[in-house]
Amino acid sequence: MNTVELTGVTKAYGSTRALDAVDLSFDRGITGLLGPNGAGKTTLLRIVATSIAADGGEVRLLDRDPHGSQAEVTAIRRQLGYLPQELGYPADMTAFGFVEYVAVLKEWNDRRRRHAEVRRVLELVGLGDLATKRVARLSGGQRRRVALAQALLGDPRILVLDEPTTGLDPTQRADLRRTLSVIAGGCAVLLSTHQTEDVAALCERVVVLASGTVRFDGTVTDLVATAVGRVWTCDEPGPDALVSWRTGTGRHHVVGGTPPPGADPAEPTLEDAYLLMLGVDARAAHVPA
Ligand SMILES: Nc1ncnc2c1ncn2[C@@H]1O[C@H](COP(=O)(O)OP(=O)(O)OP(=O)(O)O)[C@@H](O)[C@H]1O
Ligand SMILES: [Mg+2]
Repeated sequence: MNTVELTGVTKAYGSTRALDAVDLSFDRGITGLLGPNGAGKTTLLRIVATSIAADGGEVRLLDRDPHGSQAEVTAIRRQLGYLPQELGYPADMTAFGFVEYVAVLKEWNDRRRRHAEVRRVLELVGLGDLATKRVARLSGGQRRRVALAQALLGDPRILVLDEPTTGLDPTQRADLRRTLSVIAGGCAVLLSTHQTEDVAALCERVVVLASGTVRFDGTVTDLVATAVGRVWTCDEPGPDALVSWRTGTGRHHVVGGTPPPGADPAEPTLEDAYLLMLGVDARAAHVPA
């Protein structure tokens, strides 16, 4: 049994096909979900988080039906943590109060155990010292970590994180990576991001989604390997490159197309491979550094 099993999952909003016959299964470990804006990442994550239902196909979570009996749904939700892409906070709550509020909803009824758990997850995200501060007075990155803390309540077996690194500074991102690598041992972590470095640093598996369909599903190494021989460093831009830009060294980084004269083969990065995988879609989405 896989922890998460999606078969032929489809979801439409009016005439927009957000997901089109997606087959994916996940077990322990961290999977990174990459894809341009509108690819269907949030839609997929919301389905796994039981926040919305698919229109078609089958979804099994922990070998249960997320739209089955109330008992089945509750059994799944008890073992599920979800960090939505956007989360509204009651302005006058403290960080502790907000995470405790979610813990109450998750039926942590014993007050002492609940408080200990809230303190534990706030420590995990490095907010132990700010627990009594009002959420409205925290910085954007700190608020994002409060949201992450509530997702970690109760050591979930399925952890769904929609853009967890957005708004975090490099130190916080490194901390998040450490936290996730510690907890991922017994848990299926599914995270979306626009940062290929996060995926390269964290995920053993990567899924590329575009226009509601799976374009790639495999290891980070295998995705990077698809770009070998298609990336160069040279003194001029590539004539027919997918993307090329002048780097800080004054030379051009050329991805795709034919190599300009005097081009030196370059070691591809995950970002290069991702851009090549998306092809023309990537041109509009990519803003060269
Ligand atoms: N509630 C909704 N009502 C109507 N259309 C929606 C709704 N949610 C998503 N969509 C559409 O479904 C498609 C997929 O959206 P989704 O939010 O899943 O993309 P995403 O990959 O998460 O994008 P982003 O990187 O911008 O977060 C888009 O075309 C979007 O406009
Ligand atoms: Mg999204």
